[in-house]
Order: sequence, then structure tokens, then C-alpha cells
Amino acid sequence: MARGNADLSRWVVEQAAAAHPGAVGRVAELGPGPGVGLETLLTTFPDAQVWGVDLSPVMLAQAGKRNGSAVDAGRLTLVEGGVPALAASRPADVVMANHVLYFWADPEAELARIRGFLRPGGVLALGYQLRQNMPAMAQRKFPLAGHRLYDTAEDVTALAEAAGFTSVTQLVKGPADAPQGRVMLATA
Ligand SMILES: C[S@@+](CC[C@H](N)C(=O)[O-])C[C@H]1O[C@@H](n2cnc3c(N)ncnc32)[C@H](O)[C@@H]1O
Repeated sequence: MARGNADLSRWVVEQAAAAHPGAVGRVAELGPGPGVGLETLLTTFPDAQVWGVDLSPVMLAQAGKRNGSAVDAGRLTLVEGGVPALAASRPADVVMANHVLYFWADPEAELARIRGFLRPGGVLALGYQLRQNMPAMAQRKFPLAGHRLYDTAEDVTALAEAAGFTSVTQLVKGPADAPQGRVMLATA
């Protein structure tokens, strides 16, 4: 699972870079966990200032250890908090959030807040997996813990559109009948 998440993180960064071909100076990742996505953002956008925002100090410590040289160089700033803490990166060119969607009680409101922190024309890259493509244990345990799973990509698109994003597209990683993950790309 950890390896699968890492592969998805790297793939989502590639998709975000393709969706934002212009200059990228400010990039944030919400919920970076152990920091693989941040590592890839730092190399993919070599001129960008990067922020990592996570509710968990334990995860932030791991992300900081993995990306210590960027922290020391002042290129990467780690911030403890949820979506409101993305304010540090405003106006962001790219915001990425992988496997975070499930934890939002009010996803439309969180997406609208993220849109407010993006530069007009900035890109949100939201990596996730649909309920039926998750491991059986996650399908059982996430809802029991009060987390929210999604049955169709259209459900996720509808949230982004309701939050004011435009040009919303959905991409699948891997075979259509056994996706390894998905990304929703949406423009602020
Ligand atoms: C399932 S992990 C995914 C980690 C990483 N993005 C990946 O794909 O491997 C979710 C991460 O998001 C963080 N998180 C959960 N809800 C959050 C929220 N509302 N705001 C910020 N971080 C959150 C958790 O602490 C954890 O680090």
C-alpha cells in the first residue's frame, strides 16, 4: 500500500506538471504523509517554493526527514494544520492532495477554500481511489471511522464544480478495469 501510494504521488505530480505548463513558483501539498510527493514536487518544479501542510506532526517529521536538505535550504516549509494552513502558499500555482479527500466532512467547502488559495489559472491535483478499487480492508474500515468514500469519478467532479473549479478532468492510473489510482485536475 505504501509503495502504491508513492507511485501514485509521483504520477500525480507528473499529471499536475503537464496540466500547468507555465512557470510554477509556488506549490503546496496537503496531507503529504511521509513526503514522497513533496520530494517529487521539489525535483519536478526546481524553481518553486514548496509547502507541505499536514494535520499530523508525526507525518510532518517524516516528510521533513525525507526532504531535509530542501528544508535546510529554505525551499520547503512544513506547516501543521488543515486546509486553512494552505494560506501560507497563497497564491499557489499548484496544490496537490493525495488520499486526503476521504477525511473531509464537508469536501465542497474544503475544495472552495483550496480554490481561494490558488492563483487564477492555478491547478488542483487531487489524487484518490474509488471505493470499489480500494483494498477490502479500507473499504470496510474507512466508513466505520467516519471517513467518506466515493463510488464514481463524477461524484468527485461534481464537488469540484460546485466549489467553483473549471476545466475539471479525471485521469486513471493503470488499467481501466483495475485502476491503481486516479487524479482529478481542476483549474481555479
Ligand atoms: C492516507 S495519508 C496519505 C499520505 C500521502 N498523501 C500519500 O498519498 O501517501 C493522509 C495524510 O493526510 C493527512 N490529513 C488527513 N486529513 C487532513 C486534512 N484535513 N488536512 C491536512 N492533512 C490531512 C494525514 O495526517 C496523512 O498524513
